[in-house]
Amino acid sequence: MEAKRIAAEKAAAYVQDNMVVGLGTGSTAYWAIEYLGKRVSEGLNIRAIATSFQSEEQARKLGIPIVQFADIEQIDITIDGADEVDEQFNLIKGGGGALLREKIVAAASKQMIVIVDESKLVGTLGKFPLPVEIVKFGFEMTMKKLGKLGCELRLRMKDNEVYLTDNGNYIVDCHFGSITEPERLHQLINLIPGVVDNGLFINMTRHVIAGYRSGNIEELV
Ligand code: 5RP
Repeated sequence: MEAKRIAAEKAAAYVQDNMVVGLGTGSTAYWAIEYLGKRVSEGLNIRAIATSFQSEEQARKLGIPIVQFADIEQIDITIDGADEVDEQFNLIKGGGGALLREKIVAAASKQMIVIVDESKLVGTLGKFPLPVEIVKFGFEMTMKKLGKLGCELRLRMKDNEVYLTDNGNYIVDCHFGSITEPERLHQLINLIPGVVDNGLFINMTRHVIAGYRSGNIEELV
């Protein structure tokens, strides 16, 4: 927790007055939202767009003004976590189920700062199962086609029910073991009818902040 918190605090310090800020989702982004809430209570003037109902609720409770896409031209900075980060800053995201909104927000941002603890830094992506958001209609067929890409896959469940994203879709967690060509895999997955998007984030960030259990912080740019 401490490693995530210190990375989040460092990232939150990049936010300046009058910025539109993208708020990520997950236990690391949680800390960034907490720090931003503290800074807002001290007078920082920002507007924010959240990547999940959960983050939006947290931000509202902290007094961070929430806006919608209709209210803005673009997002100045987005701070979000990741499940894996490789040396080229390609990411796996979506462990928390928010990958679609996270990608829409990241793609609308001038810069995305990724905050992680040291355990998320990997040489090759794929040990963490890749989350893929799919529509309910025909999900059995969509899963068959995903399986043909060479992964072991599982429909995400929660409390004995099929897990639903904030967009009302399903998530399939696809275990590839090793993803040697992330860009190609990203394209192949998104070509399957029924797939909404997948958790590979390619070339979406050039700034990663990693917190270490030792208390050190590493900024990778
Ligand atoms: C949610 C995400 C999260 O950023 C990712 O799962 C990392 O979560 P955490 O910070 O809790 O380790 O992509 O969809």
